[in-house]
Amino acid sequence: MMSHIGDPTCGTRSPGELEPIETASRDELAALQLQRLKWSLAHAYRNVAHYRAAFDARGVHPDDLRTLEDLAQFPFTTKADLRANYPFGMLAVPQARVRRVHASSGTTGQPTVVGYTDADISTWAGLVARSLRAAGVRPGDKVHIAYGYGLFTGGIGAHYGAERLGCTVIPMSGGMTERQVQLIGDFRPDAIMVTPSYMLTILDAMEAAGVDPAGSSLRVGIFGAEPWTEHMRGELERRAGIDAVDIYGLSEVIGPGVAQECVETKDGPHIWEDHFYPEIVDPHTGERLPDGTVGELVLTSLTKEAFPVIRYRTRDLTALLPGTARSMRRLKRISGRCDDMMIVRGVNVFPTQIEELILGHRVLAPQFQCVLDRRGQLDELTIRVETRRGVSPRHARAAADALAAQVKSRIGVSVEVTVLATGALGRCDGKASRILDRRGHAAG
Ligand code: DLL
Repeated sequence: MMSHIGDPTCGTRSPGELEPIETASRDELAALQLQRLKWSLAHAYRNVAHYRAAFDARGVHPDDLRTLEDLAQFPFTTKADLRANYPFGMLAVPQARVRRVHASSGTTGQPTVVGYTDADISTWAGLVARSLRAAGVRPGDKVHIAYGYGLFTGGIGAHYGAERLGCTVIPMSGGMTERQVQLIGDFRPDAIMVTPSYMLTILDAMEAAGVDPAGSSLRVGIFGAEPWTEHMRGELERRAGIDAVDIYGLSEVIGPGVAQECVETKDGPHIWEDHFYPEIVDPHTGERLPDGTVGELVLTSLTKEAFPVIRYRTRDLTALLPGTARSMRRLKRISGRCDDMMIVRGVNVFPTQIEELILGHRVLAPQFQCVLDRRGQLDELTIRVETRRGVSPRHARAAADALAAQVKSRIGVSVEVTVLATGALGRCDGKASRILDRRGHAAG
């Protein structure tokens, strides 16, 4: 077994201070990445039968990697590979060294199981601590965590990071919205970590209870686990009186804290490139695309022991942008996953595009669902959207008609818009599900 290559001091700098690597030169960063990438490839090859077989089938060996560019010769890893090795086949350490597992929800099939050694848990806590600091959270702040606890990485991942930074953690988890509202009032947290859609639910509940969210103690919201838009940032900041920043991550790669947006620039999450090596590829051909071009994000872990991932196809569509507040590169705001792209009469549509247009109408609430039906040979898209409280039916209808016209002119598809009363769509306490696809069983 090779010794761990990670940095045990990650995230443990003194209050408010950046780790040297966050502002290191690109050359220093590349040298560290190359050294760690060599370790990670060799570790995966030596200890995971899947990687050994996949590298051998491609005719590549970890020793073939001499530069970072050489990574392109190595095979991709997909969700299907992880499923084929369910539950523990992708682990690179003996089970006794696996201190914890998490799993994806598995709504579309078998769950994906991931594992962590003690060192992995420590690296992860360090990266979330670093992320919180970039978001403007400081030791001593109170952090209300409303990401779900359990097999989902959101709650526990956020929790360990906030503790590592030296915060007071309020481990609420998702759900029990009235209780969330009460405790935000009573405990006076400085920061909240939650999905943007559940934050909207909390804000609605505050307003329904006669509480002005803008007057709460909250100073910053760290939102992720699902796509959201600049318009949504405006909505959340205005209503809650906070700075709203983006956190990105996925369980297969570690959980929250793969990338984090800095509060001083709010220009997209910086990937913590000392631990994850990013590439962008054409989702159809797998060909590498240059920085600045939108494609599928592919990530390789550089320091993970229990569950190394080599060229993991995230299905998330984004582009790599140059560093700003940190030297590490940024992600362009994620438009959605390849899987969330609706193809309606040949036009590609993402729920985030609909969200953006809805938020341009003051009378419409950003609570919506895209319903796909098939009539005969044709796909039909209906947007169900709630109105804000107290809006007259006439105003709501006018906004719905205007929205349908905008979807037609800006995105290029004809849609039906149905307006619903506040609360009619129901609420989830984690990731919102924006698409209801009924085409599989629709009658012609
Ligand atoms: O959602 C980890 C996480 C928890 C991230 C809390 C941030 C905050 P999974 O359940 O494995 O893990 O889902 C990962 O969610 O591939 C993206 O499609 C989506 N996603 C996560 N963060 C963002 C974001 C967690 N900031 C999947 N913007 C990813 C857009 C996001 N999509």
